Amino acid sequence: MYAPLIRIRIPLFSLLLALLLCQGSSMSSLVKSDAEDFIDWWQHTVFYQIYPRSFKDSNGDGIGDLPGITSKLQYLAETGITATWLSPIFQSPMVDFGYDISDYRQIQPEYGTMEDFEQLIDKAYELGIKIILDFVPNHSSDEHEWFKKSAAKEPGYEDYYVWVDPKIDENGDRQPPNNWQSVFYGSAWEWHEGRQQYYLHQFTKEQPDLNYRNPAVVQAMDDVILFWLNKGVAGFRIDAVNHMFEKESLEDEPLSGKTKDPLSYDYTTHIYTKDLPEVLEMVQHWRHLLDDFSSKHPEGPTRIMMTEAYAGLTTLADYYEDRNGVRGSQLPFNFHFITDVNGDSDARDFVYNVEKWLIYMPRGHAANWVMGNHDNPRVASRFGPSAVDAMNMLLMTLPGVAVTYNGEELGMEDYRDMRWEDTVDPPARNVGEQLFRNVSRDPERTPFQWNNASHAGFSEATKTWLPVHPNYRELNLEAQKAAPKSHYKVYKALIELRKSAIMRLGRFTIEPISRWVFAFKRSFANFDSIITVINVSDKEQLVNLSEFLNQPKKLVVEVAGVESAYQPGQSLAAIALSLAPHEGLVCRLV
Ligand code: GLC
Repeated sequence: MYAPLIRIRIPLFSLLLALLLCQGSSMSSLVKSDAEDFIDWWQHTVFYQIYPRSFKDSNGDGIGDLPGITSKLQYLAETGITATWLSPIFQSPMVDFGYDISDYRQIQPEYGTMEDFEQLIDKAYELGIKIILDFVPNHSSDEHEWFKKSAAKEPGYEDYYVWVDPKIDENGDRQPPNNWQSVFYGSAWEWHEGRQQYYLHQFTKEQPDLNYRNPAVVQAMDDVILFWLNKGVAGFRIDAVNHMFEKESLEDEPLSGKTKDPLSYDYTTHIYTKDLPEVLEMVQHWRHLLDDFSSKHPEGPTRIMMTEAYAGLTTLADYYEDRNGVRGSQLPFNFHFITDVNGDSDARDFVYNVEKWLIYMPRGHAANWVMGNHDNPRVASRFGPSAVDAMNMLLMTLPGVAVTYNGEELGMEDYRDMRWEDTVDPPARNVGEQLFRNVSRDPERTPFQWNNASHAGFSEATKTWLPVHPNYRELNLEAQKAAPKSHYKVYKALIELRKSAIMRLGRFTIEPISRWVFAFKRSFANFDSIITVINVSDKEQLVNLSEFLNQPKKLVVEVAGVESAYQPGQSLAAIALSLAPHEGLVCRLV
């Protein structure tokens, strides 16, 4: 049993008053504003990730753009989304589709202009949607003027990047300084003819790592943060943050034993290139910058950061707040639904996955759950298409913040059969035609499926940057809006349910009910509780929820999946509840 996982900002008597006010009424009718007073805007929000290149193309070039996003903000608002984070929109040669930035203050021309961005911000503000930008500090593009100046040893820029002399082997040949590999395959070192030194790149060779041991770099990036804060963004998603520092002694990393391929990132254990203690200091530095901005501009919302690090629990917990109580990232992304469970996991695995985050997260912070992103296979492909509703129920009814990748509200599927000729993702191109399917991120990045028109209504071009998934004729937003039951309608009902006080503040308990079924409860003493129950197996399961519910009076369906035999409003017997394969149900315990 956990105490409410969010910071309560007003005195306890006001909370009790609000609870009294909602007594007798159905909890879901408790309007948003009642509960919003207790927690800050980001502590219970659904953050909807937009991958700009694939969301909506407004000018027919086959590439999504900012006016396209602006034209669809109304869709987000209708769905109940109040915050979105955008993958990079900055000037870039697009080697890694925007994660290689050549000017941190310019909009990529194929995405639009600064004016388009300002219009997007204005429209979002009008609709009550907060915009979070992707901030990519670890590396720039090799076309950034900083890199060109650094390569030329221009005064002030010599140490903007990580430059190292070669090692000379017994034959007198030049070799990289050590065995560090790039996340995207091959050595992390690239020889620069002009400067006659190697530079470090933890991702592609066109993404040189910036040197944060140089205070001028820290200052330059702080200025970038302030630039976008002044444009009205509510915060940043910070990319690849745990790669920002490397051990200066440049020792070889130990072999992991996981693979025999010395060019693979898995060949070594990354003790000198990842999760160094300096990362935490930098995260705390940015938190300070954001808090300072928020206090100087109190007319706006609290400006926040969410950090991307595939790291251990202790490391991520320290991002929230370190052992000395110093606060860092508001939302260190919790990727465990992506990395630690899959279609073969049983109920215990899911319960353990949830509990471990809540146990490690320091008290007084907001939990967060990421169900998908542009770097990993989609929910339908990880857990199976029949599990889409259940996974959205899980995501949306847990306490704290939910992060949805665009298209997951429709149950979009990876385009796994994408051909080599259509493949553009750098790690996939790097490993070649035989192995590209193992690592390509293109399948989950295909254009958003708006309707059944050509290119799924995404674009009027003859060819789009990535092909549209051929299932768009049946699987699209328009069809799901028109259908009596659909993944989209389930998702929307879940967002509606999240507005209630109980979903924001209710106590939380979770248990495996059987090997294949788990359930969790959000409750206040003497009030209706909300129960989520999920069958993670591909067989029908009959369960008895009586013990978990502790003398249930009446269980009434709130949200049921597309294939469910149950209807919202239907009463159920907790003693013998039958769940179809991969079925999830959200019920009210009256
Ligand atoms: C992050 C991004 C990913 C990108 C990488 C390098 O992991 O999510 O898409 O390729 O960083 O910037």
